[in-house]
Amino acid sequence: MNFSPGIVADLHGPLRPVTQDPEPYAAFVEECGGPALELGCGDGDPLLDLCKRGLDVEGVDSSADMIERCRRRAREQRLRVVLHHQRIESLHLACRYRAIFLAGPTFNLLPDDPTAIAALRGIRGHLGEGGTALVPLFAPRPTAADDIGQVRVATAGDGAELRVSVLSEDRNETERTQTTLLRYERHHNGRSTVVDRPWVLHWHTPESFEDLAAAGGLVVTSMEQTPGSAVQRYRLRAARSAG
Ligand SMILES: C[S@@+](CC[C@H](N)C(=O)[O-])C[C@H]1O[C@@H](n2cnc3c(N)ncnc32)[C@H](O)[C@@H]1O
Repeated sequence: MNFSPGIVADLHGPLRPVTQDPEPYAAFVEECGGPALELGCGDGDPLLDLCKRGLDVEGVDSSADMIERCRRRAREQRLRVVLHHQRIESLHLACRYRAIFLAGPTFNLLPDDPTAIAALRGIRGHLGEGGTALVPLFAPRPTAADDIGQVRVATAGDGAELRVSVLSEDRNETERTQTTLLRYERHHNGRSTVVDRPWVLHWHTPESFEDLAAAGGLVVTSMEQTPGSAVQRYRLRAARSAG
């Protein structure tokens, strides 16, 4: 049995539950103007689509594997894209942006309130004059008891069998965290790679998120939710400094 850090990135594409619709993010960048920055851009959805439309958007991701996959996909599509290998909670880029966004609720991956505040401070510090941030959030439902141990299977481009299953889950309503232990597997030509990784989700209420935004130097200007969707999209701007 092998253990490989790349397996999670390898499984991301084939086993991802949803692909982000690029339209709301394209509309956001068109409305706010560039340059724009996608935080947690992964392997390029919707970043590459936005670049293809001629929008001036850069990407940030903490995973070297995902950044590499994104570069490869950009090369295959003959796209020029600026990517930064950084964490959202410790952003330090030279540019200031008219629009900063996460596509989908990646902000829920920041595991606790101090990390979320650090990320919001970083967003605040990288917004140009009059800039806007867009942060989608959701509150995860507990995994149903029947789904624990169920395996989702897909086939990779090279014919390997990819599998993901939930081994266990721990939920803390006070801290607003849910920790799901996931098993990722890749089986090909008699060789197997298996990695167990905790997947921590940290959720926010509208009130708690407003407080965190204020601690990060931002104000929530609107919150919208598409009917039928569990995701709430918050827009934020820099708070006016006192005095
Ligand atoms: C759910 S994926 C979404 C990726 C992409 N938007 C997509 O749909 O393909 C979340 C991404 O956020 C990245 N990520 C998670 N925590 C991060 C952090 N603290 N800083 C930067 N990136 C992070 C992960 O590496 C991953 O690529």
